[in-house]
Amino acid sequence: ISLREFNTFGFDKKARFFIEVHTNEEVNKALEFAKDVDLPVFILGGGSNILLTQDLHAVVIKMNIQGLELIQENGEAILVKVGAGVSWHEFVLKAIKNGWAGVENLSLIPGTVGASPMQNIGAYGVEIEEVFHSLEAIDRASGTISLFDHPQCMFGYRDSIFKHAAKDKYIITYVSFRLYKTPKFNISYGAITDTLKKLNQKDLTLKAVSDAVIHIRQSKLPDPKLIGNAGSFFKNPTIPAEQFKELQSQYPHMPGYENEAGIKVPAAWLIEQAGWKGKRFGEIGVHEYQPLVLVNYGQGDGQEIVKLSKDIQADILKKFGITLHPEVNFI
Ligand code: EPU
Repeated sequence: ISLREFNTFGFDKKARFFIEVHTNEEVNKALEFAKDVDLPVFILGGGSNILLTQDLHAVVIKMNIQGLELIQENGEAILVKVGAGVSWHEFVLKAIKNGWAGVENLSLIPGTVGASPMQNIGAYGVEIEEVFHSLEAIDRASGTISLFDHPQCMFGYRDSIFKHAAKDKYIITYVSFRLYKTPKFNISYGAITDTLKKLNQKDLTLKAVSDAVIHIRQSKLPDPKLIGNAGSFFKNPTIPAEQFKELQSQYPHMPGYENEAGIKVPAAWLIEQAGWKGKRFGEIGVHEYQPLVLVNYGQGDGQEIVKLSKDIQADILKKFGITLHPEVNFI
């Protein structure tokens, strides 16, 4: 079948087999089927962080385990267990409706709950590792259930163990989050501060924060239903402080944010400086408002995005001496 509707870039690549699963048992059946037909397995969530470059001669398992269960309510703390197939934004909206704080800054992020720990999704000053409690995953080799707690996931910036030692070894089926009842608003990120600082203290609610985030995202990021894309295509690179100083003498307005490893530079700024913002090449291009996002205008192909991303990487390396690393998974 065509995977066009199952990847947010909208690329028309095919899957040899496609199985939608709703329970752990169905996951195990699908794994057995893949063994029988001797094909590799590919797990598909919301398809919002993948770049399909070819047809998949594989058994594609579309994760559709639903459910949101309140496991524990202990004073301030809420523990919820959510099915991997639940849409991330749907989960955020339910949390807000129930008065559970912690994920409001992560409104409108595409994709599913099951995919969220893989790359430790984050936006507007919050990453899911701040509310992550644990997850359940099926070990692909044995079919048994493994439990991963927070330290075992080894979260980093857009990173976890599921991109390294545990890569392709597990299928995440449930994720548990620790939310809380009294919000600790985090509105320090420039763009939301501007929107929310006008509000009175009493109007600062979970919904107000969520609405502000939704508004900013809708004004800057292309809606995948209208223009194919997978959000940020590259990670923001961290460079040594000396290199940043040198670059700043050449580019006095170059932004940078200090972290433990050096200075984090917005890749969007580098790409814009290098002249790529809004550039269109036939059916693909660099988004006009957020140059970190590569887009498919409709009839583009994954291979063209691969080539464009390599051209951008080479250009940024030449102009700034900085290597950009993709955030999107090339398939
Ligand atoms: N910038 C430009 N030109 C632009 C846009 C941005 O120079 O056209 C520079 C500005 O200096 C701006 C800075 O980039 O201050 C940061 O821009 P923005 O707030 O849009 O965030 P980002 O660093 O480009 C990251 C995440 C996004 C997340 C936003 C908001 C990564 C790879 N991306 O983007 O996540 O929504 O912050 O928190 O960390 C995603 O991962 O798919 C994603 C969309």
